[in-house]
Amino acid sequence: MKNRVIIGGQWGDEGKGKIVDSLSAQFDWVARYQGGANAGHTIMRGDEKVVLHLVPSGLLHDGVKGLLGGGMVVDPWALKEEIIELEQRGFSIRDRLVISSNTHLILPFHKRIDELAEDKLTRKSIGTTGRGIGPAYMDKVARSGLRMGDLLLPPENLERKVIEKILAANEILASMYDADPLPSASIAQELVVLADIFRPMITSSYEVLAGVRNGSESIMFEGAQGVLLDIDHGSFPFVTSSSPTIAGAISGTGLPPRCMHEITGIFKAYCTRVGNGPFPTEILADEGEELRSLGGEFGATTGRPRRCGWFDLLAARYAVDINGMTGVVITKLDVLDSFSTIKVAVEYDCNGEPTKMFQTGTDVLPACKPIYKEFAGWEKPTTACRTLADLPANARKYLEFLEEELGTHIIGVSVGRGAEDMVWTPEGVIT
Ligand code: IMP
Repeated sequence: MKNRVIIGGQWGDEGKGKIVDSLSAQFDWVARYQGGANAGHTIMRGDEKVVLHLVPSGLLHDGVKGLLGGGMVVDPWALKEEIIELEQRGFSIRDRLVISSNTHLILPFHKRIDELAEDKLTRKSIGTTGRGIGPAYMDKVARSGLRMGDLLLPPENLERKVIEKILAANEILASMYDADPLPSASIAQELVVLADIFRPMITSSYEVLAGVRNGSESIMFEGAQGVLLDIDHGSFPFVTSSSPTIAGAISGTGLPPRCMHEITGIFKAYCTRVGNGPFPTEILADEGEELRSLGGEFGATTGRPRRCGWFDLLAARYAVDINGMTGVVITKLDVLDSFSTIKVAVEYDCNGEPTKMFQTGTDVLPACKPIYKEFAGWEKPTTACRTLADLPANARKYLEFLEEELGTHIIGVSVGRGAEDMVWTPEGVIT
């Protein structure tokens, strides 16, 4: 059984949840390796919609074990709520979910600082999800954050540690943001109670993943967000604070690269972005609105309308290259069913200079204007298609062009919301 890493190839929201759900039943483990409750992975179970923010999507299958990896930042209040909600819907996951002891904790002041920092940036704001992600990663790299392993401390030690941390954060809130302090004692007591819930799940990922290292167990790595939001390789500073790329899968689980066999990028058949920052192929006029309503492009975490645009080949090739993707899945092809013309950015004009290289420079990308290649639309429904031959000829031409230009196989095409609405193409779409 080959292990597989699932990576969002664009600005997040590519439909990773559905693909992880479709492929994960066969794996022993599914691991989240970075990010936190800023993610929103949507899965359809019949007509029922399940949105997961922290729990790995694969856990909806009985028998699959889940890991929250050390590269994540986890809000214990949000995790408790998510676990309870899943249990109420009939998914029992408590005994199948483990949490790495080096996973960092998001505490209420991280969320408060996230909001206040965004307010302060006003027009230059990043448009974060407000889940405290950036401030929690700041505490991690400052070597001052609390980790899941701290929840294993005797209650009085944990309480003291949390109070000290909140008192320090209150000083930041007052001095930098002129904001009210947070109640340290009550938050610490709440965390002591939460610790009882999580204690049985907290473990060393080195120990529990021994079977993956020796090849007796298989694993799927479930990336959150996307390559263009990566802290190092994305459109900085309009990025998240973690590493959705392959490097994050390594550092965020502690598994070596030899455990990563297939690296699968998930790309929408067009592009979307939530939050601020450059988006060369964004469509601002009515067509953008049409894509948004046809694709239901509203954030799964915040409900914000997503900005919509055409497929950006330069950005996608960059994502394939820097991650060494061994195959890609194209999602939401059906959203393009009614368009008479479909565009793909094949080059940028950057201040009069043509380039086929994706640009990540803070000042360069906003100045890049896309140069498009146009494709005739197929103007037929695709949701019932299950094989390549079922797809309209123009849809196949569009996919063949993407496959050729990306230089890696398209191994699947999603044509609808349901798990069964897939055309699997393990040998690629160019026949
Ligand atoms: P943060 O991760 O909440 O700090 O937000 C930083 C940027 O990443 C903002 O533009 C967010 O909209 C974006 N972002 C974070 N998580 C996701 C996601 O799961 N999907 C899409 N965009 C996201």
